[in-house]
Amino acid sequence: METKVATVKMRDITKTFGSVIANDKVWLDIYKGEILALLGENGSGKTTLMNMLSGIYYPDEGDIFINDQKVVIRSPKDAFDHGIGMIHQHFKLVDVLTAAENITLGLDGKLDLKAAAKKIRQICDSYGFEVDPNQKVYDMSVSQKQTVEIVKVLFRGADILILDEPTAVLTPQETDKLFAVLRNMRNDGKAIVIITHKMHEVEDLSDRVAILRHGQFVGDMPTKDTNAQEMTNMMVGHAVTLNIARPEPVNPRPRIEVKDLTVRSIDGILKLQDVSFTAMSGEILGIAGISGSGQKELLEAIAGLQPVEKGSVSYIEDDGTRDELLGKDPLDIAEKGITLSFVPEDRLGMGLVGGMDLSDNMMLRSFRKGRSVFTDRKSPATLARRVVKELEVKTPGIETPVRKLSGGNVQKVLVGREIASAPTVLLTAYAVRGLDINSSHTIYDLINQQKQKGVAVIYVGEDLDVLLELCDRILVLCAGKVSGIVPGRGAKKRDVGMMMTRLGGNANE
Ligand SMILES: Nc1ncnc2c1ncn2[C@@H]1O[C@H](COP(=O)(O)OP(=O)(O)OP(=O)(O)O)[C@@H](O)[C@H]1O
Ligand SMILES: [Mg+2]
Repeated sequence: METKVATVKMRDITKTFGSVIANDKVWLDIYKGEILALLGENGSGKTTLMNMLSGIYYPDEGDIFINDQKVVIRSPKDAFDHGIGMIHQHFKLVDVLTAAENITLGLDGKLDLKAAAKKIRQICDSYGFEVDPNQKVYDMSVSQKQTVEIVKVLFRGADILILDEPTAVLTPQETDKLFAVLRNMRNDGKAIVIITHKMHEVEDLSDRVAILRHGQFVGDMPTKDTNAQEMTNMMVGHAVTLNIARPEPVNPRPRIEVKDLTVRSIDGILKLQDVSFTAMSGEILGIAGISGSGQKELLEAIAGLQPVEKGSVSYIEDDGTRDELLGKDPLDIAEKGITLSFVPEDRLGMGLVGGMDLSDNMMLRSFRKGRSVFTDRKSPATLARRVVKELEVKTPGIETPVRKLSGGNVQKVLVGREIASAPTVLLTAYAVRGLDINSSHTIYDLINQQKQKGVAVIYVGEDLDVLLELCDRILVLCAGKVSGIVPGRGAKKRDVGMMMTRLGGNANE
């Protein structure tokens, strides 16, 4: 509605970090009773802009108005005083405290725990959250922690809610739940800003989109008046194709043969049961499944990082020589050219050291490759430069500590590092988590290049549409068992989805 008055107005906001202009004279309006999707490529300045509303950063220039009053937000507390709360990508909860204790932590005055518990229950009831106030944070799933973060912000009276890539770590089912809650809050008159790279979420959830490109505001519009292609073009600044290539496999040969693999967790729970399949060279084998269906255990078992109860994993050379991998040292497995890149929920915990620069992080991977690497700093630096160039990593240089890069750029460094190590088998899980569309396509291209070089790729992904477009075959896991293996060409999304939740899915297959 044209008559709506913005509750937040950001005007000419500029923020620089050294030579990097993260935000350049940005204008942005946020309305009550509306869900705004803030879009832009990795490093385009989305998190920085929202951090200035939530009191993490202070603008170099520009003004912020809330309900037409000019405000100064110098701390998260200032932000709360203006009704602004932000859910960050990395949660800030105290593990040993309960939900209720975290929600009320740091509040002034004497706290009546009973009254607090009652208020928490009211918030949960009115928006549809499920929180056990007495549960300790260390016992919670990622989704439960996120719920606590949101309730914490609402408890403090926030009516402007900012969520930075909240679904990056959620399963599709958890995402649906979150979106239902966000819609309830919108209908209750709250202003919601969500940062996400997933276009179908933008189309599903948001009422309006605002787009940043290289730190500048490039436009906003009602979601119903635009589409994924147009939004992507605006983010990138030129037309991009959204199709994923699927070249025919060239001369595929069995490379990894997994037989009757059974894995139990330390507490005795079956994680994989009698899993058997063959991964071919020059082929992308996709692994589909609801998160936690055994994907992680499967890749880790192949890489030698997971104790196995029974079964075998054979590595087959071009000449047919077989080598049993189970029981081998992970470093010896890596020497064969089997690389694992697993992008976990917490991207900085994934084998990169935040305080170290790009070049040193390259060395963490390649230290076994050459004996002289410790004295010869040239090769990691060369590698770092190549990754930066090929993946268009936005960084002032290879001497920049990784933690200063934007989320998506951190990830390009990780995936690029694994691919650059010239693998024969590429095990990759959630490679595009948190990546913008353009970068995701860069990763798909890189994986396709590996396939065409004859690498056997095992690709664990969360996005069924992508699995169906990219992979030659798709193995569907359901609760640790192989529900079926289908050819990627011609497979139906519904059928694969069904196989994910029910062994064999379609019974007459
Ligand atoms: N604390 C910091 N120190 C130095 N540079 C920073 C800092 N925070 C952000 N930057 C830089 O500012 C730019 C914008 O980063 P920002 O995190 O806002 O991007 P983003 O749009 O949120 O990206 P992503 O989608 O990858 O999360 C990037 O070039 C980033 O490297
Ligand atoms: Mg960000």
